[in-house]
Amino acid sequence: MTSHWPGLWTALLPSAPHQNMGLRERLCAALREAIRNGSLAQDSRLPATRVLAQDLSLSRVTVEAAYAQLEAEGYVRRHTGKGSFVAVQTTGKSGVRERKSRSLVPLMRLSQRGQTIVDTGGCMEPLSLQAFAAGSPDLRAFPHAVWRQLTNRRLRQDPEALMRYGDPQGRQELREAIAQYLVASRGVRCDPGQVLVLTSSQQALQLLATLLLDPGDQVWMEDPGYQGARTAFAAAGAGLEPLPVDAEGLVPDFTLPVPRLIYLTPTHQYPTGHTLSLQRRLALVDYAKRTGSWIVEDDYDSEFLYDNRPTPCLQGLDIADRVIYLGTFSKTLFPSLRLAYAVLPQALVQPMVTARSVCDGHPAQLAQAVTADFMAQGHFAAHLRLMRQLYRSRRDLMLECIQQQLPWAQVLNSSGGLQLSVLLPDGAEKELSRQAQSKGVATPSFANQQVRPAARDGWLLGFAALQPSEIREGMRVLGTLKLPAHARQR
Ligand SMILES: Cc1ncc(COP(=O)(O)O)c(C=O)c1O
Repeated sequence: MTSHWPGLWTALLPSAPHQNMGLRERLCAALREAIRNGSLAQDSRLPATRVLAQDLSLSRVTVEAAYAQLEAEGYVRRHTGKGSFVAVQTTGKSGVRERKSRSLVPLMRLSQRGQTIVDTGGCMEPLSLQAFAAGSPDLRAFPHAVWRQLTNRRLRQDPEALMRYGDPQGRQELREAIAQYLVASRGVRCDPGQVLVLTSSQQALQLLATLLLDPGDQVWMEDPGYQGARTAFAAAGAGLEPLPVDAEGLVPDFTLPVPRLIYLTPTHQYPTGHTLSLQRRLALVDYAKRTGSWIVEDDYDSEFLYDNRPTPCLQGLDIADRVIYLGTFSKTLFPSLRLAYAVLPQALVQPMVTARSVCDGHPAQLAQAVTADFMAQGHFAAHLRLMRQLYRSRRDLMLECIQQQLPWAQVLNSSGGLQLSVLLPDGAEKELSRQAQSKGVATPSFANQQVRPAARDGWLLGFAALQPSEIREGMRVLGTLKLPAHARQR
């Protein structure tokens, strides 16, 4: 008897996946699984409870309870005097099991949209601290004690309200703090009613792509440019038009077909670091006004410019409501906070709030409340001031080390940011990166940020999160790399 019931035996073993359940639940799970996978066909008779209890060394009460549970769920039919039978046909139609002949058909067929999303390859950020993984602020220098105090105070004050669902547009107090900060520091024209609090700029890009782009719509992208944005727009099926970047930022080509959307990082172009010139800003805003294109301004790290004050944002020049402004706390506070914001033209507020509610409701209330307090009480401004100083000194150290250790690397622009872009001799990047990786040093590739084949070899070296000794050690390692013979010196 027991040889016919290996699944049941397995379910009762201490190492089985259901081991944390009681015996009755384990038996139920095993019987359900046997029915679903077809080991027990419809109408087949289950052993009498007494027999099964004996075979499995269980009490009859346990087996009786399991059968009763499966009867209540509809898996089993019981007839007094006749016995217990499997009640369901496990065909594809019922959603329980595919017939054998159909098992050759691929089990997972994605929608076209799903396949487009998967084909983008997705976005993945580094999970641990490593020289010179790109993009992380210094989390060791974060004012943890202040954050803990503010969190505890909030939890003491009104824990119940913070546990409820929240406003899909974001907490009013946080929207006020963000609006106040952006008006004063970035020249954004907005009131709190235009601010939408999101979990990330990536979410903003994804929602905007969903809401504004139909498959085939054109999007102008900076090239090199931010891969996260490219992924979000490609996932929506948009046609991407990569435009070159020079020392004045994106080089627009107004003879091209009118795009539905233009994605820009105007303050500190990602990854070259260049600032979009005023002339081009005015031309782009005017173009958007005339053509009805949307401009998405991703102001992802303007807080960290070290030599000059950042140029006021593009959105402040826009009187036609065509610019959507994005910012994130991933760099200014910490990435796992999962808080970012969009400042929306009035007409887009309601559609975006609705789209946001369809997507995930809202970010965690506690995180929003603590962030609002952190801003309102002046900690945010103080933290930014300190981090700017800290990162500036690390940027200076990076420049010094590059000059001493990497004579073959050319710094592209070092005016700000959490990472430095360096150009490498043509054809050298792959081999140098391979060597660096084998010595435990990450050298994020510039090529990943580029679309056109005229890609330049280069690295995007993250430094802000690294202490001086870690920068020196990483640079020492890079200094030992051997330039491949075929690489031409620029
Ligand atoms: C240009 C740009 N925008 C946005 C982000 C990320 O922001 P978030 O974590 O809010 O998606 C990054 C991160 O590296 C970035 O480089």
